[in-house]
Amino acid sequence: MYFNKIRHPSNFTFASAYANQTLSVGAKTVQASVRDLGEDVFHLELNDAKRWPLDARVLPLHDDAFKINPSQYQLGISATGHLALTAPDGAELLSGVASASVGVCGSAWLVQFARNADMRFFGQGEKTTGLEKTGKRTKFWNADVWADHAMHTIENGQADPQYAAVPYLLVRHGTRWVGILVDHPGAVFMDTGSNWFFSGKDDQNAPPAFWFGADEGVPAFYVIAGDSAASVTQRLQRLVGTTPLPPLWSLGHHQCRWGYAGTKDLNALDAGFTEHEFPADGLWLDIDYMDRYKVFTTSPEHFGDLGAELKKLQANGRRIVPILDPGVKVEEGYEVAESGTAAGIFCHNPEGQPYVGFVWPGRTWFPDYSLPEGRDWWAKYSKAFRESGFDGAWLDMNDPSTGAAEVDDMLFNRGTWPHWTYHNQYAVGMAQATRDGFLAARPDERPFLLARSAYTGSSRFTALWTGDNHSNWHHLRTSIHCSMNLALSGIPFNGPDVPGFGSHADKELAIAWYKAGCLFPFMRNHANAGTARQEPWVFGPEALQVIRHHVRLRYKLLPYMYQLWNDQEKNGTAVMRPLFHDYANTDAMELDRIDDQFLIGPAILQAPLVQQGQQQRNVILPGTGRWMDVNTGDFLAGGRGIHVTSNTESTPIYLKEGSLVPMQVGVRTTAANDLADIELHVILGAGSTGTATLDYVADDGLSYGYQRGVRNVYRLTASRAGDVLTLDVSALQTGWKPLRLRVVGYDSASSLQLRVGDQRSTLALTPFAWNFSGGSLAAAASAPIDL
Ligand code: GLC
Repeated sequence: MYFNKIRHPSNFTFASAYANQTLSVGAKTVQASVRDLGEDVFHLELNDAKRWPLDARVLPLHDDAFKINPSQYQLGISATGHLALTAPDGAELLSGVASASVGVCGSAWLVQFARNADMRFFGQGEKTTGLEKTGKRTKFWNADVWADHAMHTIENGQADPQYAAVPYLLVRHGTRWVGILVDHPGAVFMDTGSNWFFSGKDDQNAPPAFWFGADEGVPAFYVIAGDSAASVTQRLQRLVGTTPLPPLWSLGHHQCRWGYAGTKDLNALDAGFTEHEFPADGLWLDIDYMDRYKVFTTSPEHFGDLGAELKKLQANGRRIVPILDPGVKVEEGYEVAESGTAAGIFCHNPEGQPYVGFVWPGRTWFPDYSLPEGRDWWAKYSKAFRESGFDGAWLDMNDPSTGAAEVDDMLFNRGTWPHWTYHNQYAVGMAQATRDGFLAARPDERPFLLARSAYTGSSRFTALWTGDNHSNWHHLRTSIHCSMNLALSGIPFNGPDVPGFGSHADKELAIAWYKAGCLFPFMRNHANAGTARQEPWVFGPEALQVIRHHVRLRYKLLPYMYQLWNDQEKNGTAVMRPLFHDYANTDAMELDRIDDQFLIGPAILQAPLVQQGQQQRNVILPGTGRWMDVNTGDFLAGGRGIHVTSNTESTPIYLKEGSLVPMQVGVRTTAANDLADIELHVILGAGSTGTATLDYVADDGLSYGYQRGVRNVYRLTASRAGDVLTLDVSALQTGWKPLRLRVVGYDSASSLQLRVGDQRSTLALTPFAWNFSGGSLAAAASAPIDL
């Protein structure tokens, strides 16, 4: 497959008339239907059984997630075949290129819209091509990046495509936003005004346009319109499926390395984290834990009594997450290979034989997850894997990676579907099947799975890590916009390998990456075999202290992060997100160009130092309210840029005034967590006139009890007059153990008036100082309050 060449409109015939759901395209016709799904979400689909015989969409999306009908916006096709999205005020938010909006070229199809000068483009799933996507020509095709791109491009360039394909484009047009989700599992292409000439000239004869399409398969796409990036993103997420509330432990710190093979390594890690009082939940096992890389086996060399050994680690609070690769070793007598053969669930090649690729064990066959029976077969093994005592699974090589073997020879659906139909969906099928197995083993425990590859909708089943990056500053910077664009594209639970997989991390990079990444949705330290060790304590005492401080901070903030995941499950709100998600551009501040700052939920803004040697930077504080600098405790006016200096110990973080930030109590030296025992940090500075509210949700962080009412929800409302904080507490749901909280105030707050139901009391706030990031932060706290 060519990654740099895509179809060009010059070779297409475009629709010229539309009537009775029929488009005339040249001398031929195709059916075209536009559905208004409600809440300004639309679906457009073309049908022509001859031209597009195969509909390969396996995973249904939630077309029924939208309730309010009819929509305010309108997506329609005019009698002349002109496609347009019209805003409530009549303005065309998307306008098909004149006489050329919907086109065909044999089995290929393409849709193009006019590109205005004030349009900006975002999303596109997992790409390393920058925050904003104007001028890109790209494909959506899950790649095995290190096998498919040149190493120098991977290391310091923008290798495209990456492992995950989400053909989604978020467009800003003035103050309005549109999401376009191409509803097509094949190799979708997109162009947002790339340069088509060797000479470097733009395509001056063509009207400025952006377009998308595919080489074959039923043409279809969704359009989501709205007034903010946040509202479009929430509806996209509801459409593709929100991320189920993760187990709390999965939000902690994870330690991985290619080379961790068995109990000896895990015990050493366990001891290391305990000795250094460094909180860590996940200890991971890479391919060497298997018997000669055979999936669903364990190496006799590396384990004794597996169940007992795992239990011992789990008793210390560790969760063990081994890797699972889909490729099954071709070997006589290997039970998994033989049962897969007997069940007939391996992918075929065009000769009707099992397709052979090359993964770690050598020759491998590939389960066909497009078949329900293929998924059931895999789920049975996953169930046994979970029952053997492992806590989670790390799904790798699911692009699918076949080594040097051409993937096109891998067919699906018993050899009847060409490769393009299921390539991008392969990882989703594997994830779905693994999750089914986990749930069969432990029906009342939320599974945790991490995958390398993904497609639209996969966040219902797995978190995603962004694959094999490098320990360099380019990848640290890239990780920020890549993670934000993934969140905008419906994959909120994601993160990079910290402090980089390939190459050797040094002390400065490790510190910078841990500080920048300490609040990313997913956080795992992982490294390639043969690279310098990068466990958090190998960089010397100073680095250990700074890295550990910021991981402890992550643990302290888990109650806050957990609220964001509740919001994600319920409303589809992104967790890590760009400034423009929450704030509109102003004339003075083009927030949608800021790729080195991000929000973690509504309350936390981070502006890390991501250049080697950097000790100062500009920070944009968006909005009209104030932000508390966690290094000084100062409340700073928003709506402006400031210049800040930082040092090794600190990283610039700001808390939004008007926020209630729930945290664990004290300094977190272990991974232990209790959502019913918290500090409630009230971010209201002196002179504040507003209120801060939060519906605080607490449960056991592990089971599905919360869905049966085993949880608490407290409505918390705070305000400030002089140095007195007022907090109103009312219980919205009390199905779990009662909440204990200490109220923490800032900026000379000295007492608290508490109202719980009808009861009123006044409590003193006694001064103390704590360290958020680097500096001593003056605060004052109440005694514990038991509700
Ligand atoms: C792939 C994965 C990497 C893993 C390695 C060995 O490269 O992306 O994370 O360590 O395989 O399993």
